[in-house]
Amino acid sequence: SNNFLNLSDLAIEDLNHLIKLGEKFKKGYRINLIKPVYVANLFFENSTRTHTSFYMAESKLGLKVVDINTATSSVKKGESLSDTVKTLQSLGISIEVIRHKTTGWYSSIVEDNNVNASIVNAGDGAGQHPSQSLLDLMTIYEEFGTFEGLNVGIIGDLSHSRVAKSDAQILHKLGANLYFSGPKEWYDAEFSDYGTYDSFDNIIDKLDITMLLRVQLERLNADSVNQFKANEYHEQFGLSLDRANKMKKSAIIMHPAPVNRGVEIDSSLVESSQSRIFKQMENGVFARMAILAHILDNKNLLAEEISYE
Ligand code: CP
Repeated sequence: SNNFLNLSDLAIEDLNHLIKLGEKFKKGYRINLIKPVYVANLFFENSTRTHTSFYMAESKLGLKVVDINTATSSVKKGESLSDTVKTLQSLGISIEVIRHKTTGWYSSIVEDNNVNASIVNAGDGAGQHPSQSLLDLMTIYEEFGTFEGLNVGIIGDLSHSRVAKSDAQILHKLGANLYFSGPKEWYDAEFSDYGTYDSFDNIIDKLDITMLLRVQLERLNADSVNQFKANEYHEQFGLSLDRANKMKKSAIIMHPAPVNRGVEIDSSLVESSQSRIFKQMENGVFARMAILAHILDNKNLLAEEISYE
């Protein structure tokens, strides 16, 4: 497809190609465009990692980057996202990378016959975060060389987390054993399709990957924010030093970040030898280069076809 919306849409072979391509870019692989190609970034929700790493990936691929300031765009005058996408396409943009708070914001846009720009989902509300999942897969693959049979714990604010949803679906499809933990009120029944819910203390010693999620206070109502006690959360559901001591020596810690230090993870563990949190961010640039290069290949905009080997 010319779009990148949801990792679960991809065949396993295409997914493996993207992981390999990300690793190739990390080792210095380059592509050549047959003509100038323009890409626009539209972030309607805050972002540091995804926005900047898409910008870095686009720049490294030699794309012409148009970074839209959504706060001063005509969306503020009431222009719809769909009309904004078509407007940018009319101006000569070939690829549009978008983050928006509406879950599934892209559905009607990609079905619109008047849209021929490629659409990349950089996060849709509490839906999916497929480019984050690809960088997570790269990080796991680098560590273990496989996904089959790995014990993965996804811990924390599951119901608000697009990362949890994307990662759970794709890791389950790839044969990992999934465990979920965190406050029961933040556990959605849909996760039971992919793994089992248990207390953090019951699972910590068998996990190969402990993936923490950020508590998303901005998505809670005012009462829940007022009642939230960071210390209590850390004690019950966080990766404390005590829990970290029970991890397998070969196990790794992941977190999509930004991190609430001292809440979902003890601050000193963020840079610990078992943490891959900054490695995940580094891999984000190469994963996004792979996503964009795959689209450019499908659109016949590359001088040579990509070799995935
Ligand atoms: N992990 C992630 O999506 O971070 P940003 O919100 O900073 O892009």
